[in-house]
Order: sequence, then C-alpha cells, then structure tokens
Amino acid sequence: MNHFSIIQALCRAAIADASPAARKQIERLRDALARDGDAKSAGALSALLTNADRTRELAPSRIERSKSHLQGENLTRNTPVPVDRETSAPLADILFPSDIQPSPPLFNATVSAAIETIIEEWANYDALSQIDLRPSKTCLMYGAPGTGKTRLALWMAHRLDLPVVLVKLDGLVSSFLGTTARNIGNLFTFANRHRCVLLLDEFDAIAKVRDDPQEVGEIKRVVNALLQNLDARRDAGFTIGITNHPKLLDPAVWRRFEVQLEIPRPDFGMRKAIAAHFMPPIEAPDSHLRLIAWFTEGATGAEIESLVRTYKKATALRDEDRRGLLDTLRQFATLNAARIESERRALLFDDSANLFRAMKSDPILGFSMADIGEIAGKDKSTVSRQLGRVARSTEAEGSDG
Ligand SMILES: Nc1ncnc2c1ncn2[C@@H]1O[C@H](COP(=O)(O)OP(=O)(O)OP(=O)(O)O)[C@@H](O)[C@H]1O
Ligand SMILES: [Mg+2]
Repeated sequence: MNHFSIIQALCRAAIADASPAARKQIERLRDALARDGDAKSAGALSALLTNADRTRELAPSRIERSKSHLQGENLTRNTPVPVDRETSAPLADILFPSDIQPSPPLFNATVSAAIETIIEEWANYDALSQIDLRPSKTCLMYGAPGTGKTRLALWMAHRLDLPVVLVKLDGLVSSFLGTTARNIGNLFTFANRHRCVLLLDEFDAIAKVRDDPQEVGEIKRVVNALLQNLDARRDAGFTIGITNHPKLLDPAVWRRFEVQLEIPRPDFGMRKAIAAHFMPPIEAPDSHLRLIAWFTEGATGAEIESLVRTYKKATALRDEDRRGLLDTLRQFATLNAARIESERRALLFDDSANLFRAMKSDPILGFSMADIGEIAGKDKSTVSRQLGRVARSTEAEGSDG
C-alpha cells in the first residue's frame, strides 16, 4: 500500500492515547487490509494493537529527558563504524530505533514487570537523581537459544529511543585472537563517545575460547580488556550482554552486571499468546491456538513462530478446510523430535480416538466435544461416537482381565 509507513505512524500516535474509538478504526483498517490480501500491512497493524495492549507507552517527553542525561554525540547513518585493522571488517552493526520491530516479545508477568522496571527507571532519571540514585546501566540476559533475548534487547533500545551498537562477540573473537583486545577497546571507545545502547551479543564466545590451552595467555588479556572496558563504561551509557551459556561466563564478568535477567521458556499461557501474536492475518480458532500451545510444551518462542508459519501456509493453501492443524503438528513433531514432550508426540501418531480422548481429559486444554470436532474437521456427534467406542472397548478390556 502506498504511504503505509505514514498511516502506520498515524495509527501509532492515535493508539498512544488509548482511545477506544481509535482502536476500533485501526482494527477496521487491519481487517480491510487483510481482506484485500495485504497481509504484511495487516500484520503490522495487529502488532501495533498487541503492543498497545501490553505496554503503556511512556510519555515521549520523559524518555527525551532521560536520553539527555546520556552524554555524547548523536549517531547518524553516516557515522563511520570502527573496523578490524587487519581485515577491515566492521566490528559492530548500528541499528536505529526505526529499524527495530516496534512490538515487544511476549514474556510472563514477572519477566515483563522486571523489564518495565528498567525502562521506568530511565524515564524517571530526574526523580532518582534527586535521591542520588541512577537507573540500572548494565543488564545481562541469559536463557536458551530462541527465547527472544536479542529481540528483547533491541526492543528495549527502541523503547528508550536510542540507537544500538550491536556487537556479535563470536565474530569479534574468531580467528584473530591477537587483535581481539584492541578491537574491544576500539568498540567501547566508539560506544562511549556516542549516545547509544551497547549490545554485546553471544557473550559466551569469549568464555568458550578460554578452554583452548594454546590461547590461555591471550584470552586472559581479552577478558581483562573486557572487564576494564565494562568498568570504564559504567557512567557512559546503557550496556546489555546476552548469553546462552551463563555457566561459561567468568564470575568477574557476571559481577559487572547490575541486572541479571533469566529469560525462561514460555509456559502454556505464553505459548498460546506467542502463537496468537504470529498468527495474523490468518485468524485461527481459539481451540487451534490452545492445541498448538499444548503440543509445544518445552519449545521456545522461535520454535512456535516457525510452527505457526507452517500452519499459516497450510491454512492459506487449504482455504476453508481447517483439518490441517493435526498434519502441521505431525510435521513439526517429526522435524523437531527432540523438542516435543515424548508422550504428547506419541499421541499425535496414535489412533485418533486415543488422541481425542487425551485432549478431552486434559484440564489445561479444557476441550469440549465441539473443540475437538473443530480440530478433527468432524461434527461433535461423530467425535462423541468415536470416544464412546474407545471408552466401551477399554471397559471390555478391563472386564476381560
Ligand atoms: N517470547 C517471545 N515473544 C515473541 N517472539 C519470540 C519470543 N521468543 C522468541 N521469539 C521469536 O523467535 C525469534 C528468535 O528470537 P531471538 O533471536 O531474540 O532469540 P535469542 O534468545 O536471541 O536466540 P539465540 O540465543 O539463538 O540468539 C525471533 O523471530 C522472535 O520474534
Ligand atoms: Mg540472540
């Protein structure tokens, strides 16, 4: 759609006041776009609505004021990024708030509240200063791959309206260990000179090479450089570190971070919310979202996103025929064998009556006959007959023995 970015900005401004009328019109626009086949724009509006539901936008003036407490030059798209002297490869990517997806990743209430606290502290910089306190300036996020850590860090920078200096430490350490300490120094100098969030992703890369006996002396120098630079940056700006392997990190590195935030795998409710988040513009019945959440016990947000993508493709191709969910789940269970809880996985390939019975009896799912019918593409009396047959044959087996 022409000029969609302006329309999107208008919608964002309108919904910031939380007016029900604005919300209604944005929903109308989203539905109309979806009907016209403009899935991308409809998805962007859905994300905007979800975002408005989940987060109370901080007033821009408060964020502006908190930003002004960060010293330094403004980064622009023309600012030269430091490079490795030997290879000339850039040492960081710069992302601006407008490059970052504005909708937040979804976490349970405890994690969301913790994140909100950090952002609130920045928005209330003045009030904290009056009692001689500063907002948290260093945050370490850790958790399994695909739980949304990088997306969360970028989104926090977006909320603070600051550009991100994104450093992938695994790339930095790589085969040029001899120059790593110097590269780290150059990067921190660059980040400290500008107003930004410094994001150190794949933090464990440094710890991993520590075990290489040939590199002991060198890696000590690298860890020391990192510690010194983290200390020197304390008052210069906000730093986020991310790792999948917290146990590999040097205790001295851990201590440098004021906030240590564990990003958990999503529980049933969050898995359902994540499935719903990635679903637009396809509208899935609630029973489908619940079943997706049920079968993805132990999975991460990234895995649910990929399952939903498969489901959407299948639904779009099959049009009105909704029976595709079980096929999609079977496909997912085959390709992600180790990630799905084994009993639930076995059920998918079992006799359908046994599967329906397990669904019917699980209180978390809370399925009615009609829900099961919706999933199986059968009417509810056919489903009850099938279930009745299983119940009878189980009773008969019981009396035989
Ligand atoms: N809680 C979540 N809410 C919404 N989306 C999520 C969530 N968790 C993961 N995702 C989606 O999964 C994908 C991967 O997320 P991300 O890259 O942030 O994970 P990560 O924790 O940084 O993984 P890794 O440790 O492998 O780098 C993204 O597309 C993101 O949108
Ligand atoms: Mg990541």
